[in-house]
Amino acid sequence: MHESAIKVAYIGASILFIMALGGLSHQESARRGNVFGMVGMTIAIIATILGREVTGYVPIIVAMVIGGAIGIAVASRVAMTSMPQLVAILHSFVGLAAVLVGFASYLNPENHLVGAERMVHESEIYIGVFIGAVTLTGSIIAWGKLQGVITSKPLYPPMRHWVNAGLVVIALWLGTMFVGANTVTAGIIPLGIMTAIALLLGVHMVMAIGGADMPVVVSMLNSYSGWAAAATGFMLANDLLIVTGALVGSSGAILSYIMCRAMNRSFISVISGGFGVAEGTSSARSHEGETIVETSVDETAEWLADASSVIIVPGYGMAVAQAQYPINEITTQLRNRGVEVRFAIHPVAGRLPGHMNVLLAEAKVPYDIVLEMDEINEDFPQTDVVLVIGANDIVNPDAEEDPGSPIAGMPVLQVWKARTVVVMKRSMATGYAGVENPLFFKENTRMLFGDAKASVDGILARLMKAA
Ligand code: TAP
Repeated sequence: MHESAIKVAYIGASILFIMALGGLSHQESARRGNVFGMVGMTIAIIATILGREVTGYVPIIVAMVIGGAIGIAVASRVAMTSMPQLVAILHSFVGLAAVLVGFASYLNPENHLVGAERMVHESEIYIGVFIGAVTLTGSIIAWGKLQGVITSKPLYPPMRHWVNAGLVVIALWLGTMFVGANTVTAGIIPLGIMTAIALLLGVHMVMAIGGADMPVVVSMLNSYSGWAAAATGFMLANDLLIVTGALVGSSGAILSYIMCRAMNRSFISVISGGFGVAEGTSSARSHEGETIVETSVDETAEWLADASSVIIVPGYGMAVAQAQYPINEITTQLRNRGVEVRFAIHPVAGRLPGHMNVLLAEAKVPYDIVLEMDEINEDFPQTDVVLVIGANDIVNPDAEEDPGSPIAGMPVLQVWKARTVVVMKRSMATGYAGVENPLFFKENTRMLFGDAKASVDGILARLMKAA
């Protein structure tokens, strides 16, 4: 393929990637955004394979068939709730690729750059390998924490900030040795030692971060993987890789920022480790003497039928129970009776950004009644019934009321301001952040214990019977 045709293909693919990101920012256009991304990637792969540097097609085709088959198998089997782990492990591949390309680029015998050009090229290699190695091990640890293979508790080795700072200083010093090396043999030693240091740094940094901050870490590693790809693009003088890497790097950074704001966490405090004890445990706050009031499926169905306004708050438990389909039917039933039904979505509900939106869209809940936290939080005082389905941390009043709470300051959905709140969950267990929830003990709260799908099915059956 002619060089200029490749350039045109790369520009086309870059535009499609930008359109993909634009599409993914709205639920209605998300599917279209995905299609743009897929078409852009297909064009990019074909143009790259047909480029002048590629001399043998067989190894590439074999690798693509094997990789593609693994990708299809993994993606079609993964549960929605395990998506963050999958994303984390995929980031590690980008990191690994950046490290391997960096070494290959340095050892390339056809590389005859001299003077400033050589210095720039070697700096690109060094930075790319460093970011890639941190991304590689950091992503593997994030995967382990999300998968439950490694404890989600933050690990605080003594003097860890000093250790991290020391490792970065050594890496910088090795960088000067690497760029100043006259021969490949002299340069490969500092490059190798720095790689080992960066691998250690990735482990060290992410081990110190608690489970509740893992979503931000995954998004931050997403950003790193983008910058690693951009650095690889510089090494290979590939414009498309630079653009794509920069898009991933900057969108990951913006997403990390949005998530930090939604959890009221500063980015620096996330990186330096923090809250996040194991799921299902309880915090220090005691609720001795306080009682909870249980309710039944029948009573809940009656309240819903008699209400004029209902807000449904879905959380991680709805995803586990797969209760979104009967919830959509309940919504239809109630709306047919003239009840105003809306959904309130917290930015970090569930286990991945947009998790609830995806599930509700899957169940065909109309987009216009699905509202973000900021759009609906002021409406709870005028609401008759709030149905909290498998949500916990995102409706915890302690975030606002108890400055000593580990989640203090995190904006939450103020469901307790409604007339009646029905909380559906299986037990009194805590949610992801491992903190107790005083909502369950409030006067206007009723607990509906059981699997969310079974409870929702029961409510739907009562509503249909009464219709
Ligand atoms: P959580 O606070 O984790 O609470 C979920 C609740 O669902 C649990 O208390 C659990 O109680 C209940 N549950 C689980 N399975 C259920 C089932 N089959 N039926 C009924 N209930 C069930 O969830 P949330 O309120 O959505 O908050 C999200 C949390 O995850 C936040 O702390 C957030 O920081 C964190 N996080 C978010 C993300 C993103 S980006 N969204 C990613 C990772 C982590 P029982 O066991 O008693 O049933």
